[in-house]
Amino acid sequence: MLATRQPVLRRFWYPVMPQALVDQGPQPFTLLGEKIVLWRDGSGRYAAMADRCPHRSAALSKGWVDGDALVCPYHGWAYDGRGACVRVPQRPDSGGLKGTAVRSFACTERYGHVWVALDEPLAPIPDWTEESDAAYRRIDQFYEPWNCAGFRLMENSFDNAHIHFVHRRTFGDINDPNPPQPTIERFDHGFVARSDVPVFNTELQKKNLRDDSAFTVRHITAHWYMPFLRRLQIRYPNGLDHIIVTAATPIGDGSCQVVQFCLRNDTEAEATAADIIAFDRRVTEEDREVLEGTDFDAPLDMNSGVERHMPSDQPGLLMRRMLLELLATHGETEQTRHYPSRQAAE
Ligand code: FES
Ligand SMILES: [Fe+2]
Repeated sequence: MLATRQPVLRRFWYPVMPQALVDQGPQPFTLLGEKIVLWRDGSGRYAAMADRCPHRSAALSKGWVDGDALVCPYHGWAYDGRGACVRVPQRPDSGGLKGTAVRSFACTERYGHVWVALDEPLAPIPDWTEESDAAYRRIDQFYEPWNCAGFRLMENSFDNAHIHFVHRRTFGDINDPNPPQPTIERFDHGFVARSDVPVFNTELQKKNLRDDSAFTVRHITAHWYMPFLRRLQIRYPNGLDHIIVTAATPIGDGSCQVVQFCLRNDTEAEATAADIIAFDRRVTEEDREVLEGTDFDAPLDMNSGVERHMPSDQPGLLMRRMLLELLATHGETEQTRHYPSRQAAE
């Protein structure tokens, strides 16, 4: 599936950028191949618009905010958060140019990030109660582009078989390569997968988990929110929750922006954010190393012959089925073109 060729994928919310970054001034981003600008107006409202001035096509992200308007850096035309042209300095009495507008997109803030939907959203941004639960803290972890398709990161998150190999240096036991398979329940535009996975504890994890055992068990409740968002709740035997929220926000067909934060029911005195990020960084780099080598045009048709499967691939196969259903419901079909390798596509 090539993400930019599926218009229905424009109908989902994506966390695009940390609010703190947008608060510094207008920022460019490419979402599903669409160049957009994110900015915050003088009244504190976030906005997302096409990053192109209709006058002479300058990038509005190189402009600046003046009151509730975004000013184009080229000749100073100004636009409000809905994209309407409200001021043309060369025609001071005009009050802007009627009928001149930049395309604007649905935009809101949740969980410390600015979210954007390019077309009318099919599903809401998930509600996670931990955000307003005083027992939990949010730790922002990663914000960086990866050279792989968002889908590859999603299926990886639900693939228990990869743990024992990809993560053999951080928590996976390579001597026990047959992982327990999750039980899966579907819901609208996603599913939840539950499993208990035995893992080993590094010295750093013993500290982070406040658990000196050589081995422990991860009680996993993992939600997939179509198409590129997952919430991985890991509950340890001592009651500690380490909930990792990861989005593979699609930049284009072969790249995604990894947006990750975690929610934990402990305190900085018990485990420092720096130590928690350090461990998750090691794990994430292990995934990245492998995923950036995968074909980005993952076939959704499991019988395409392009890929072979095994029983533990069930969550990824269900994702494929559900995405195919989505495309069929919205009158689209998967592009039949599959690239045999990354190189052929580039
Ligand atoms: S290009 Fe934007 S005002 Fe001229
Ligand atoms: Fe992984």
